Amino acid sequence: MSALDFSTKIGSKRFSNPIFTASGCASSGSELAQFLPLDEIGAIVTKSIMTKPRTGRATPRMAETPSGMLNSIGLQGPGIDTFLEVDIPWLVSQQAKIIVSIAGETVDEYGVLARRLRAVNGISAVEVNISCPNVENRGQVFACHTDTAAAVIEAVRRNIGGELPIVAKLSPDVTDIVEIARSVINAGVDGLALINTLLGMVIDTNTMKPKLAGKTGGLSGPAIRPVAVRAIYQVHQAFPNTPIVGMGGVASGRDAFELILAGASAVSVGTATFGDPTAVIKIKNQLSELLTQRNFDNFRDAIGFAHRGV
Ligand code: SIN
Repeated sequence: MSALDFSTKIGSKRFSNPIFTASGCASSGSELAQFLPLDEIGAIVTKSIMTKPRTGRATPRMAETPSGMLNSIGLQGPGIDTFLEVDIPWLVSQQAKIIVSIAGETVDEYGVLARRLRAVNGISAVEVNISCPNVENRGQVFACHTDTAAAVIEAVRRNIGGELPIVAKLSPDVTDIVEIARSVINAGVDGLALINTLLGMVIDTNTMKPKLAGKTGGLSGPAIRPVAVRAIYQVHQAFPNTPIVGMGGVASGRDAFELILAGASAVSVGTATFGDPTAVIKIKNQLSELLTQRNFDNFRDAIGFAHRGV
């Protein structure tokens, strides 16, 4: 049997393998670099960056849940200036494939961030995070409405220029994710990231108060994997030619395979990294073995396989 072609594509960009980090779970990659060579990861998706430095929400901002985790970080980060001066050159020096995630409080802020990225060398794609659940105002969850989701993507498309693929990160906390996907595809995205965390809450039965200072947080980890599989399946069925970066509770190569069978062209590993910083490489190796066992010699033949003949 011939060697596995493990490469994947998003828009015009090719990635050597389909296992990426998930935004927010490995910052800009430096924490992971002590455990593994970053150039072996399909892509590092950086923590969503905003126009200004941000300290995020008050602590405590993480809580364990059954088969999952709740976070209310609140988009902590250094801001775009420091990110472009420090983080990007460092990632480039590591030969990492870079997907920059951006987040804004207004449509205009997304446009400003896109404009800052347009001339930066070494970036393979931009993830537009329109679905962070940890914002003061639910009106800022742009991905909850077709018109606001499209307005953000149009602003990014206008300002980004060139060929940099745009990937919109959507929320599962909507009635019909296919309609949201349709609106951002019509507005010009090259791909979709499915799914961000689900809005949740934990109350400490000893203190009888919410465990998180921000009260609500985003639920991630294996508990949400069936939601991710469902969302990816529905969106791939409606838009089979739009690449999907799947994520949501992937902790093994088999979990990644499930998202790929549903329709993902790449898979991001997030929460699993907190328990095992080498998870992303282990999952990549397990997936490669599994694909070979199932007689795939080209990874791309497995994308959306669960839809065939159904
Ligand atoms: C956060 O920083 O609060 C999480 C970001 C996200 O889930 O989009």
